[in-house]
Amino acid sequence: MNMPAEKHQTAIDELRARFGERLSTSTGVRDHHSKDESWHHPHRPDAVVFPNSTEEVADIVRICAAHKTPVVAYGTGSSLEGNVIPHHGGVVVDLANMNKVLRVSAEDLDVTVQARVTRKELNAFIRDQGLFFPIDPGADASLGGMAATRASGTNAVRYGTMRENVLALTVVLADGRIIRTSRRSRKSAAGYDLTRLFVGSEGTLGIITEVTLRLYGIPEAMAAAVCSFDSIEGAVDTVIQTIQLGIPVARIELLDDVQMDSVNKFSKLNYPVKDTLFVEFHGTEAGVKEQAEMVQSIAAEHGGGEFKWATKTEERTALWTARHDVTYANKALRPGCEIWATDVCVPISKLAECIMETKKDLKDSFLIAPLVGHVGDGNFHLGFLINRDDPKELEEAERLNDRLVMRALAMDGTCTGEHGIGLGKQKFLVAEHGEAVAVMRQIKKALDPQNILNPGKIFTM
Ligand code: LAC
Ligand code: ZN
Repeated sequence: MNMPAEKHQTAIDELRARFGERLSTSTGVRDHHSKDESWHHPHRPDAVVFPNSTEEVADIVRICAAHKTPVVAYGTGSSLEGNVIPHHGGVVVDLANMNKVLRVSAEDLDVTVQARVTRKELNAFIRDQGLFFPIDPGADASLGGMAATRASGTNAVRYGTMRENVLALTVVLADGRIIRTSRRSRKSAAGYDLTRLFVGSEGTLGIITEVTLRLYGIPEAMAAAVCSFDSIEGAVDTVIQTIQLGIPVARIELLDDVQMDSVNKFSKLNYPVKDTLFVEFHGTEAGVKEQAEMVQSIAAEHGGGEFKWATKTEERTALWTARHDVTYANKALRPGCEIWATDVCVPISKLAECIMETKKDLKDSFLIAPLVGHVGDGNFHLGFLINRDDPKELEEAERLNDRLVMRALAMDGTCTGEHGIGLGKQKFLVAEHGEAVAVMRQIKKALDPQNILNPGKIFTM
């Protein structure tokens, strides 16, 4: 792999003078920051620095800006499209020390955290106040990274994504200025919505150092159930009807038979190896009962079997842990493989057609790709199990992925519901957004004229 680049040495020397031992150029540390959880090829940064505060992040960016050295923010490294791989080298800013919950307001149902607090750490912190934060990508990702990727997860069907749940951000800009994008009020009509500009900007417009989030009261009643279907159409039609009827399900996840086999093996469960829905209901006791009865009767009409209930907290946790671990389960299915996780999202009325055509493609292919998804949002993933050093497998995964994305776009959907563009989805950006991509480039140029912030992500300049 690449050696430290001479051209960034001046920035590294200045950073070392400022940060001492909190700057590392060791091979081990650089290796650790060379990759994410995707199949994309690793690339080492030249150095990694560990700031303790927003002001220190601003100092790092100012030093790097003076020498045109790339700066890539790093949380937990759990991105799935190469989003944090520093593939132009430069300096990785590992926010590991910025892991404090700064304030919680139970009265206002909001919280401000430093960027490296993870979603599970936040939930552990607020649980005894009767609060929770619902956004849950598979990994225990950092909340800064989740904001930067516009992440979502299994609860988005009820609670929205990071787009709906970030109230304000503190951001370090490419010239070292520090801004706060909004106050805490639930509404504001004051100027451009910079919060939403930075949510999903993947570290290309600024480095998010603090995040203010909406919180929710833990519902009085929660119940989860697993339901197997005779056909994937039946499962998908159940979801579509549930959404179209406005039943406020908290989670409704599809796992196809291949995915169920993988989950059973990895999480030591023994659900039938069939196309399956994992469903969860939140509300009052009566509300949960009513929603459950409605979805059960829809499922029964579409070839669904009995609901297997998980109502005790430990059972629900075990079920959702198994669901969240699908990427790790898929990796274990073929030791040594990488997962090429793809991520389309379509309007709900197109979901059945999109999934059925995709399953037909998979049937005719030699690659194995479990299908799993947040189908209540019209969002689903394939996880291709690939040997990334085998050009035949890469080519086939790319072919299937291209077909899937173009199918979703033809249905007025998107090439990524929640994983972001990173390195992996760049070639679809113009197909999806057309002229709007030129506007995105203008914004990038205005905010980062030297192209030092996570360069080469989303698009090349
Ligand atoms: C999940 C990841 C792949 O849904 O987005 O588990
Ligand atoms: Zn997902």
